[in-house]
Amino acid sequence: MDAKTADIVRHPVTYILPDGTIQVVHAEEGYDLLMASQELPAPISTGRRAGGPCPDGGCGLCRVEVVDGTGLSAPKERERQSIEAHVRGDMHEGREREAGPPATELTRLACHVRIQGPGGRVQVPELFDYDSITGDPEGT
Ligand code: FES
Repeated sequence: MDAKTADIVRHPVTYILPDGTIQVVHAEEGYDLLMASQELPAPISTGRRAGGPCPDGGCGLCRVEVVDGTGLSAPKERERQSIEAHVRGDMHEGREREAGPPATELTRLACHVRIQGPGGRVQVPELFDYDSITGDPEGT
C-alpha cells in the first residue's frame, strides 16, 4: 500500500433500500451520499437519464430520508431551497416539472449530503432503473 492509498479514510454508511434490504457502504470521507451509492445494486435515482447528478444540485430528485444523521453534513440553505422548489414543482433547467411529494424533516438530497464520519443511516426511496437506459434488445 502506498502512502497515498493509506491516507484514504472511509466511513460506514447504512442504506436501507426500497425493498427493505440493508446495505453498508464504506465510503471515502468527503464523498456525498449519491457518489457513495454507486456501490449499491444501483445508485440512488436522480431522474437523469444516465443516473448522474444534475449540474446545479437543484432537481430535487435524489431524495433520501436520513434516519440517523451521525457523521453526515448538516443541510445548507441551497439544499433546503432545492427541496422546496421540487415540492412546489417550480421550473428547473428551463423546463416545467410536476410537483414532488411532500418533504419531511428527514428529507435530504443525496448529492448535497457529505460523509464526514461513521454512523449515517438513510432510507432510499428509489434506485436508478438501469432498464430505462438499455437499448433495444432486438437491435432494431
Ligand atoms: S441529483 Fe439533482 S439535486 Fe441531487
